[in-house]
Amino acid sequence: MAVTTETQRLDAHKLRADFPVFEELINGRPVAFLDSAASAQKPRQVLDRMREFYEHEYANVHRGVYKLAERATAGYELARETAAAFVNAPSPRELIFTRSATEGLNLVAYAWGLDNLGPGDVVVASELDHHSNFVPWQYVAKRTGAEFRVIPTDAQGELHLDVLDEIDRAGNVKIVANNLVSNSLGTINPAEQLSAWAHERGAIMVVDAAQAAPHRAIDVQALGCDFLAFSSHKLCGPSGIGALWGKRELLEQMSPFNLGGHMIRQVTVEETTWGQLPYKFEAGTMPIAEAVGFAAAIDYVNGIGLDAIERHEHELVAYALDRLGDIPGLIGYGPPADRRAGIVSFNLEGIHPHDVSQILDMDNVAIRGGHHCTQPLMRRLGVAATNRASFYLYTIPDEIDRLVEGLHKVRKVLG
Ligand code: ALA
Repeated sequence: MAVTTETQRLDAHKLRADFPVFEELINGRPVAFLDSAASAQKPRQVLDRMREFYEHEYANVHRGVYKLAERATAGYELARETAAAFVNAPSPRELIFTRSATEGLNLVAYAWGLDNLGPGDVVVASELDHHSNFVPWQYVAKRTGAEFRVIPTDAQGELHLDVLDEIDRAGNVKIVANNLVSNSLGTINPAEQLSAWAHERGAIMVVDAAQAAPHRAIDVQALGCDFLAFSSHKLCGPSGIGALWGKRELLEQMSPFNLGGHMIRQVTVEETTWGQLPYKFEAGTMPIAEAVGFAAAIDYVNGIGLDAIERHEHELVAYALDRLGDIPGLIGYGPPADRRAGIVSFNLEGIHPHDVSQILDMDNVAIRGGHHCTQPLMRRLGVAATNRASFYLYTIPDEIDRLVEGLHKVRKVLG
């Protein structure tokens, strides 16, 4: 693996050698992969670790007393410690493995929301939230008779916090849910401020860090939140696994989300009692090798340094915004480069984003066109969809140049 210098600058050209996907050439060039916000590519370190685990350490966890089961359990629990430390959780027992960040957010909505909300209560999300941190809250609010309120965004895609006073007057604020980084625009949201506001009202703060955790250091204690969900696949790990951190006292009071094997203390015909944390929330056979791969990805990212990754992405965003600004008819969305993570969203006047991505794909440039699971935000922007290019630790300026060349071509063909 390539390493950073003392000045916290990473060398993306060297890091790319860790990623087999860049070895496949089409017309002599690798893919210009500008869709890491949807899912990141995987380095050999993660792939090798999962293979080694399957070949030498694999069995089900917490069940057998033979050597392989003990190795598997050790690998799985070490992964928990790694994921807990990654977000500075006070204890690994507060770190629950889930199948995705989405499942972690649903866990809180169902297991905390359904038991603690009722008429007169208010659940708050924002227009910047991904559907995974929007729809569950809208749903549990409807189910319980609570009111669902949404913080709107301004023209630059930043939250309009001056509506908070009005939201406060609507009833008992019980939950504030927000993403730390917007997956559509890259906006970095004021999670600390929202946590403090939530706590002043006795509410809980739920942070969706799926788009933030791969790109900037996360500290749940500094954020002051109550729950934080993140996923593996966006930070170079395998898909099928995510993590939810929650404050112990809340997790202990909550009912389980999934019921079945391993999450129990005792089952009789009359009644079942629940196991201790974190197992109460990990029913059934969990994604075991994926947890080990997730930890290998965290080690990989930590080895490069989150500060170096964040700096690299800020530089790429500034470069991209500058270059995209020269394209006639390009409409950009989102805040200035210094207030966003490695994401740029835009439209070419009169051309549907799906057509843009298809033409770019002919030159092996991969971006996402769509609503990015943020339909309320798209409505606010007055569009059905946008083009989104997103960057990660392996992104190089040459890929942004290829995007810009491709967009000129799109305009020639369809403009
Ligand atoms: N949430 C992912 C995205 O933003 C899938 O593309």
